[in-house]
Amino acid sequence: MIQSLRGMNDLFDDESRRFSFFISTATAIAKRYGFEYIQTPILEETALFKRSVGESSDIVGKEMYRFQDKGENDVCMRPEGTAGVVRAFVQKKLDRAGGKHRYFYYGPMFRYERPQKGRLRQFHQFGAESFGTASVYEDLTVLLLIRDILSALGVGYRLKLNSLGCPTCMPPYREKLVNFVQAHVEHVCEDCKRRVELNPIRVLDCKNESCQILYKNAPKLVSHLCESCDADFAKLTQLLTQMGIAFEIDTHLVRGLDYYSKTAFEFVSDGIGAQNAIAGGGRYDRLVEFLDGKATPAVGFAIGIERILELIQMPQGTTPLYYFGAMQEEHIDTLFMLAQQKRQNARVHIEYEPRSFAKHLNNAQKIGAHFCMILGENEIQSQTIWAKNLVQNSESTLPWDELL
Ligand code: HAM
Repeated sequence: MIQSLRGMNDLFDDESRRFSFFISTATAIAKRYGFEYIQTPILEETALFKRSVGESSDIVGKEMYRFQDKGENDVCMRPEGTAGVVRAFVQKKLDRAGGKHRYFYYGPMFRYERPQKGRLRQFHQFGAESFGTASVYEDLTVLLLIRDILSALGVGYRLKLNSLGCPTCMPPYREKLVNFVQAHVEHVCEDCKRRVELNPIRVLDCKNESCQILYKNAPKLVSHLCESCDADFAKLTQLLTQMGIAFEIDTHLVRGLDYYSKTAFEFVSDGIGAQNAIAGGGRYDRLVEFLDGKATPAVGFAIGIERILELIQMPQGTTPLYYFGAMQEEHIDTLFMLAQQKRQNARVHIEYEPRSFAKHLNNAQKIGAHFCMILGENEIQSQTIWAKNLVQNSESTLPWDELL
């Protein structure tokens, strides 16, 4: 039997209901915040991700679904959504148009990771990107948008926050960090020895226990921010506090993608296993420029939909289902027309085979219908349909023109 690929799941029944509920909820809230839907291709040039996510990142270095297409183009299945949205933004020359542009998207992303609970090779993100605003109020807005989505779904979270500085304060800090690691090089793992050459800041993210203990004493970027980054970070934390939004400053939160500057954040959820990051994002003021656009400040996030599916609290009660059945073959056409009319304002199941009265009632109960509507000889004569409310156990006869 042919099976789905490892780390690539089918989604149906309860999970797909939750998925749809997530999308409709998140979409409605994102629109309230002024974000509009954008859709970009799943397949992009590999160079796009090398230049944005970064060559030294695990995503580009180890996890890309990359191949040559028939035209010998080096292409890749998108591992994340931001790069494609920025490419589209620049391609459409919106960077030159100026103004504010806010987009949200959802869809599958692909990373060749080692599958485990909460870590898939094809997973889905709901993301949003805001272009053209450098103000920390926009960082706050993005955080509030995530907060509102998670709250509407009944999903609990902890917010972790950090600042990754800017081209003024990052290089001198990086040098301090490199000096620190080199002074303790005999205590760090092989991965960190490599990281310190390629992208030193990523050492802070190391999962190795002894490295983590060592880096507790490493210089912290939040204490080395330039005046502007420091003021922005102070303002953001002050606004969050003022609005009663709890957060933790995590000086080791560096994110796995290279394009961030200033605000970086993650929402984590306890009780879903080791892969507990349910959303991540931050500011990326230089990415539009890296992708050949005009310098444009930007901030955004993505929620990992699979990671929160089981946490979503679905609304109670379902839309009532109407079961329609006829007792004689020659009345199926009439039954179909009547039931189809009812479909204009209700969820309808039509039974195509004639059945006895008792059999229809039994069938309706089996599929969880609220109403069982039966058409027999008498009903045809009087142009009515017999209706039973299976929940309240009451029955009546309805004229056809009152069906809706
Ligand atoms: P990210 O942190 O790589 O950020 O991914 C965002 C979320 O996607 C994660 O917090 C997690 O919930 C989910 N996720 C990531 N990898 C997997 C996986 N293998 N299986 C299941 N879920 C996963 C980004 O992708 C950035 N583009 C976010 C962003 C948007 N930053 C600015 N704008």
